[in-house]
Amino acid sequence: MARPRDSVRISPTAHYTGYTWLEHGLSHPALATPTGRFLYKALTPANLAMAAAGQATLDGFLLARHHLIDALLRRAIERGEVSQVIEVACGLSPRGYRFAKQHGDAITYVEADLPAMAAKKRELLGRASAGSTHHRVVEIDATADDGQQSIEAIAAALDPARGTAIITEGLLNYFDPVSVGKMWRRFARALGHFPHGVYLSDLHLGQDARPIERVFAGLLGVFVRGRIHFHFDDEPAASRELASAGFGRTALRSPEQHQDLTGPVDLASARAVRIVEAWVR
Ligand SMILES: C[S@@+](CC[C@H](N)C(=O)[O-])C[C@H]1O[C@@H](n2cnc3c(N)ncnc32)[C@H](O)[C@@H]1O
Repeated sequence: MARPRDSVRISPTAHYTGYTWLEHGLSHPALATPTGRFLYKALTPANLAMAAAGQATLDGFLLARHHLIDALLRRAIERGEVSQVIEVACGLSPRGYRFAKQHGDAITYVEADLPAMAAKKRELLGRASAGSTHHRVVEIDATADDGQQSIEAIAAALDPARGTAIITEGLLNYFDPVSVGKMWRRFARALGHFPHGVYLSDLHLGQDARPIERVFAGLLGVFVRGRIHFHFDDEPAASRELASAGFGRTALRSPEQHQDLTGPVDLASARAVRIVEAWVR
C-alpha cells in the first residue's frame, strides 16, 4: 500500500509531466521546472524511437488522457452541472491555471497535493501571476479518511449548493487496488454533499496493457521505488468497484473513441489509457 512517505517518492514524476504540458503548449513557462526539463530531455530519444516504430509514446498517452479529462470537465461546466473543481494530486498540471483564466469567478478551482508539492505549486502559480480566492492550492493526503488534509474537509469548505468535480490524473497507478477502492469511497462520499458530483480520472486496465506498456510500468516502478498497479482487468471489473464505492453512473472512455471531444490523438498511445467519468447522481 502506498503510504504518505511512499507518496513523496511519486512527486518527481510531476516535474516530468509538468514539462510535457509546457512542451505541448498547454502550460505557462513558470509551471515547468529544471528537474522536469532534465527528465523530459533524457526521455526524448526513447519517445522518438517509439514513435518511429509506430508504438505508444509517453507523450502521446499523457496528452490523450489530459485532453479527454479537459474535455469532460469543460462539458460538465458548459452544461451547468459543475462550477467547483478539486484537482487531487495536481502536481504541476496547468489545468487549474487554464480553467481559472478562462472562467474567472464563475468557477472555483482548488488544486490539492501533498504539502511540499502544494507549496511548490503555490510559489510557481505566484510567478505566473495566477491564484486568487477562486483559484487556490491546498494540502491534501488522498489516503486520509479525516482531518484537515482529507478530501472530506476540503469539500466541506466549498459551496454545498454548487455542482463539483474531483479529478485525479496520474495518481491511481501508484496505489494498490484496496487503497484505490478506499480513495474512490472517500471521493464519492465527499461528492455526495453537492447537487451534482463527478469524478474524472485516468485509469489503466489490464486488458489494454500490452507487453511494451508493462515493461514501461516496470521501469517507472524502479524510478519511483514502488510497484505500478493495473487494478482491474477490464471495464466491468472497474465499473463494479466504482458502483460499490458509491458512484451511480459511470463510463470508462477511451480517448481513441472521443476525438470529437479532444481533437486528434495518437491512436497507439490513446489505446493504453481510459478516462473514468463517474457521477454520484
Ligand atoms: C505523476 S504526478 C501527476 C501530477 C499531475 N496530476 C499531472 O498529471 O501532471 C503524481 C502526483 O501525485 C501526488 N501525490 C502522491 N501521493 C499523494 C497523496 N497521498 N495525496 C495527494 N497527492 C499525492 C504527487 O505529489 C504528484 O504531484
